[in-house]
Amino acid sequence: MNGVILVTGGAGYIGSHACKALRLAGYTPVTYDNMVYGHDWAVKWGPLETADILDAAALDRVFARYKPEAVLHFAAFAYVGESVADPQKYYHNNVTGTLSLLAAMRRHACSRIVFSSTCATYGTPDVLPLTEDHPQRPINPYGHSKLMIEQILRDFDAAYGVKHAALRYFNAAGADPDGDIGEDHDPETHLIPLVIHAAQGRRSRVEIFGTDYDTKDGTCVRDYIHVTDLAAAHIDALRCLENGGGSVVCNLGTGNGFTVREVIGMVERVSGKKVPAFEGPRRPGDPHALYANAAKAVARLGWKPRYDNLEAIVETAWRWHESRKG
Ligand code: UFG
Repeated sequence: MNGVILVTGGAGYIGSHACKALRLAGYTPVTYDNMVYGHDWAVKWGPLETADILDAAALDRVFARYKPEAVLHFAAFAYVGESVADPQKYYHNNVTGTLSLLAAMRRHACSRIVFSSTCATYGTPDVLPLTEDHPQRPINPYGHSKLMIEQILRDFDAAYGVKHAALRYFNAAGADPDGDIGEDHDPETHLIPLVIHAAQGRRSRVEIFGTDYDTKDGTCVRDYIHVTDLAAAHIDALRCLENGGGSVVCNLGTGNGFTVREVIGMVERVSGKKVPAFEGPRRPGDPHALYANAAKAVARLGWKPRYDNLEAIVETAWRWHESRKG
């Protein structure tokens, strides 16, 4: 039997899928979430502690009560546009919040953390696919906040022996294949749920942000990774740290890029519905293409993605959104 894992942001989209994966792997996930963006219905595989990572007393109480052997740290604000408009909010919550969490870990002798980093730490790519040694030059405060945390984690390893896995996610998408949980952001800004909402008639149409990029059909290319595969990588990372593997940084993507038009086409195929779409201007700050070389996660973590095709991603997402129509 494995032990207790503290999951900050465990009531969110990726965090809740990780809680399910933890439970299936024999761990007890304790969700620690301020419930600003989290959902009660997403907490199904362990207790919920409603508190903020900036609250040192609450962290002390939860660490003392559950004695977690490691932390999966998802809690963060993650709206790129908002981070440009209100950087203070992002640096305070993401960076100061992580420092508060790390300080609590040290007070309670917890020395392993798996951290949600992002491909947004790379900024605009020089070469594709992106490997972990590509220069990191974020182009927005959200990406900067995540890069700062990666640096903090390296320093905490060197000085205090806190071991980390920093996982640089590409575009998380899809839903739990059993239909237990799925993606539900408010506001929703991500492409796949927006296209699905348009197919369902819940929104009138979807805007394509830019059609003059240097890509095969002029629209942006992204690497969509199934949230269940993303969750599985956290279990692999946890085991790696448990086995004394040392701190590690890995990309989590599929290595395959799809254009915005290809995503719309896949939603139309899976749903059997026409998606009303219109062509708009570029969204500021969007690199033309982002896709990963994820070989390191496979080699170093032993990660085995199971749903690494766009059809499975869209199909599970479509079923989830259909089940929520009520
Ligand atoms: N897009 C549209 N129309 C929309 C929404 C998105 O055309 O209504 C396009 C975007 O321009 C982009 C692609 O669809 O090319 C995917 O956009 P998302 O907003 O779904 O995702 P991003 O690639 O912008 O963002 C993701 C993560 C962020 C992370 C970022 C790194 O969600 O957390 O990758 O670039 F910071």
